[in-house]
Amino acid sequence: KPMRLWGGRFEGGPADALTRLSVSVQFDWRLAPYDLLASRAHARVLHRAGLLTQEELDRMLGALDDLDRACRKGEFRPTVADEDVHTALERGLLERLGSLGGKLRAGRSRNDQIATDLRLYLRDHVRMIVSRLVELETALISQAEENADVAAPGMTHLQHAQPVSFGHQLLAHVHALTRDVDRLRDWDRRAAVSPLGSGALAGSSLPLDPAAVAAELGFDAPAPNSMDAVADRDFAAEFLFCAALIGVHISRLGEEIVLWASQEFRWIEVDDAYSTGSSIMPQKKNPDVAELARGKSGRLIGSLMSLLTTLKGLPLTYNRDLQEDKEPVFDAVDTLLLVLPAVSGMVSTMRVNKAKLEASAPDGFALATDLAELLVRRGVPFREAHEAVGHLVVWCQVNDKDLGELTDDELAKVSPHFAVDATGASVRDVLNVHGALAARSAFGGTAPDRVRDQIANLREVVDGQ
Ligand code: ARG
Repeated sequence: KPMRLWGGRFEGGPADALTRLSVSVQFDWRLAPYDLLASRAHARVLHRAGLLTQEELDRMLGALDDLDRACRKGEFRPTVADEDVHTALERGLLERLGSLGGKLRAGRSRNDQIATDLRLYLRDHVRMIVSRLVELETALISQAEENADVAAPGMTHLQHAQPVSFGHQLLAHVHALTRDVDRLRDWDRRAAVSPLGSGALAGSSLPLDPAAVAAELGFDAPAPNSMDAVADRDFAAEFLFCAALIGVHISRLGEEIVLWASQEFRWIEVDDAYSTGSSIMPQKKNPDVAELARGKSGRLIGSLMSLLTTLKGLPLTYNRDLQEDKEPVFDAVDTLLLVLPAVSGMVSTMRVNKAKLEASAPDGFALATDLAELLVRRGVPFREAHEAVGHLVVWCQVNDKDLGELTDDELAKVSPHFAVDATGASVRDVLNVHGALAARSAFGGTAPDRVRDQIANLREVVDGQ
């Protein structure tokens, strides 16, 4: 006979098809530790309300502890006959306490319970996700430190644009991740509201103490509106947005690593421990971690869309549709906890091909802007300087030369702007990659000294996370 928390007003049993549709214990069982935490708090409140004697409370708490232990050891498990986590745990309580077990449900509904459990679960797991993000930030910062002085091709449109410090580029990813951590911390402020005490939707006629329950469960406050409390899933949707954006960030990093590891770039080599081979091509070494980071972002975005679609148009208050909130949340948590350590490991063990980066940094006429800006310092309007350097680039292409290979005579021939000036300074002086990096020394620029400042600041930020 299926274990149900309802049934008094029903004549026949539920149809099999309904039972199969309705059951959620196969995925909500992971909430059991949180449901038990909330149950302990609720038992104390019932006792303070005079609804449980001291002796009953003691037995109740003892049974809850025992059930918790049995759950953790796998001795108590949900059966196919248990509708959901609340049902299974009530069965466990009845097995231990007999009819006293049936007292715990007073003043409480699965509607405020599930909303509470999910908040507790998420607040807990968000802390774990933050730790994994901090590890990835730290791995990227260490690589950035190693490569602060390494000049690399900086790209826009995936075309060589201007040389940058490779460390600067790695740190760009760290900034995105620090914003993610910040968002999760901020999320927690809003998630720290306790629905327990809201009952099914209207609160309880029993003299419960929602503030005491909230405090015991580590929430900042009880929910001020019982209807909002049982209907609201903003905390889940907001978490899923944060998770989706983390997915987007690691997928952009993943895509760069895939490119960098390719034969065409050869900027980095992914360590064997984070690479996979091919079942047919013996020579292959593939950056699967980076690709999975990129690929998994799809399901994170999907989970956000799934929950928003479930919520859209739902009337207040609780509707069974809300049972669909859990799987996307669990999947997002699992996905992040799976992907982030792999990405951190890949980043901290990847080898950077500094020689290749340095050699490619000036490619694609990447110092053209430096030349144009030199002319600006000589008083030439930027518009004219831009035009003159553009001509020079075409001249180089026609004559199969790099900017750095030009002689003073060749330069003067293309435009008088490029002639050696009165002080004898040649425009060729700016045509070196490290000079170009060092010159970008304002706040936020790619000069290696600024990159080192950034590293120091980021280390402090990450320490505080
Ligand atoms: N399993 C349900 C859920 O996840 C718990 C709440 C059930 N409430 C109800 N009124 N049927 O949403």
